[in-house]
Amino acid sequence: MHRLVKEKLPRHLAIIMDGNGRWAEKRSLDRVEGHRQGAESVRRIVRASREIGIPYLTLFAFSSENWSRPRVEVDALMFLLRNYLETELQEMLENQIRLVAIGDLARLPLEVQTALQQTVEKTAQGKGMTLTLALSYGGRDDILQAVRRILSHCQEGNLKPEEINEELFSKYLWTHNHPGPDLLIRTSGEMRISNFFLWQLAYTEIYFSPTLWPDFTREEFIQALLSYQNRERRFGLTGEQVRVGDG
Ligand code: FPP
Repeated sequence: MHRLVKEKLPRHLAIIMDGNGRWAEKRSLDRVEGHRQGAESVRRIVRASREIGIPYLTLFAFSSENWSRPRVEVDALMFLLRNYLETELQEMLENQIRLVAIGDLARLPLEVQTALQQTVEKTAQGKGMTLTLALSYGGRDDILQAVRRILSHCQEGNLKPEEINEELFSKYLWTHNHPGPDLLIRTSGEMRISNFFLWQLAYTEIYFSPTLWPDFTREEFIQALLSYQNRERRFGLTGEQVRVGDG
């Protein structure tokens, strides 16, 4: 049994699932096999998150830069994604999981867009957990699309420049209906953000794991959550101020 404290779970947990390619290369397998095992890890961690009671889980499943990978790899990732949506629908419905997709979704193949749309619609009533897939997502793209829409609303006379503040800006981001991420996990030992959430990560705790994503177990996932629960989040205040506020 783990020692997680329900009240101190991250409300929004985001994961950069890295290391599928290296997992395969270490075994002299095709990189696609690494992604296939990565998809199994996704199933495992989504299930664990739902059981533990995490309200929002966001997975960085395909970045705007991933389009430049070899065609066979991109095709395989698109296939795995569609396959995931088809095979998991029943479990999502049974477990009250609501699926959301964010990113430049118009770039995705039509059949993936359709599968996403259908899953989003069918699971829209899920109240147990919001599972967000960041697809064709780039943090800079997200900020730019927000700026463009804010500008056009200003030009149309529906928004005044002086009304633009952090809260308003957040509402224009693709993550507008998500709370800010409390914890970011990145696997595979790389210690960078790789154009994932840029604006959103301002006060996020980060947990770097050396484990490659296909090997990321439920036990290590719980370790990451325990580590988060032991941290003191100060949001720019002093430790004393935070502890007085807690009491
Ligand atoms: C990073 O590994 C992972 C990706 C680029 C894609 C993540 C996709 C999955 C986990 C599987 C499909 C997704 C779902 C939601 C079913 P990498 O290839 O960059 O690894 P490397 O750095 O070792 O090469």
